[in-house]
Amino acid sequence: MSILKLENENLIIKKTGDILIRNINFAVEEGDKILFSGINGVGKSTLFKTLLGFITEEGDAYAKLEGGKYTFCDSDNLSDLNQHIIYIPQEDFISKPFTRVEKALLQAIPDEVHDKERFLNEWIEKYNPLTKDDEEKKLLRKRIYSLSGGEKKYISIIQSLLRCESPSVKLALIDEPINNLDAYHIRHFSDLLMRIQFFNPKFAIVLITHCHAFSKMTKAFEITSEKELQQIDYEVHNCFGNFDKDGFYQKEMNPK
Ligand SMILES: Nc1ncnc2c1ncn2[C@@H]1O[C@H](COP(=O)(O)OP(=O)(O)OP(=O)(O)O)[C@@H](O)[C@H]1O
Ligand SMILES: [Mg+2]
Repeated sequence: MSILKLENENLIIKKTGDILIRNINFAVEEGDKILFSGINGVGKSTLFKTLLGFITEEGDAYAKLEGGKYTFCDSDNLSDLNQHIIYIPQEDFISKPFTRVEKALLQAIPDEVHDKERFLNEWIEKYNPLTKDDEEKKLLRKRIYSLSGGEKKYISIIQSLLRCESPSVKLALIDEPINNLDAYHIRHFSDLLMRIQFFNPKFAIVLITHCHAFSKMTKAFEITSEKELQQIDYEVHNCFGNFDKDGFYQKEMNPK
């Protein structure tokens, strides 16, 4: 069973009927790690938002899928996909500027978790999202307004990934996660994704990124200037260093 499957769908601008991406065929299987790329403005973010049934503040969506078939876990009931998909948008989304990072993370933990502090400590222990140079967890004590661009991006990613073990969550759609990150955080983020899939082998990840520094990608797609989604070969670029045989940059992030 595929987690998410699109067959012969077209991504269409609702108001004008113009096609953004035509004849989309792709499936996300359990354990996949998929890359999406394509030139600026081609429709990558719009595709993600539309997959989620994203509604704008005006109460309408910019685009829709039409002409083919869209199923999630073999069902065409696409309500409540937010329960099953972690969506990390291209824009930062942490609000409440005076909140400390730790509190923002605690607030993102699902309601069914009773002891949220314990959950957070155990999650951090297990997945190691904080880099080696922050053993004192200083980042957690900062207030949101004081975070740098990269720190804010990184925290908004962690905040969303806290749900990765929820039984209902199958997939993360992550839109350009590394734009503000330095090489060290890019390596750490890559290792964090590897670690999440090591402990949750069925969890699937789809990344929009122009960066080929991630290991163990299962598939890669490009939206071409002809508005078509094409499967491409994934070639790793080792501009940020080399992985070990399991696909980790840093030895201490490899659970084996
Ligand atoms: N709500 C909206 N209203 C008007 N135009 C929109 C809206 N959302 C997207 N667009 C337009 O649709 C096109 C695709 O935008 P999208 O954000 O999906 O591109 P992208 O491939 O993610 O680009 P980038 O690489 O720059 O992030 C762009 O021309 C954009 O201006
Ligand atoms: Mg985009």
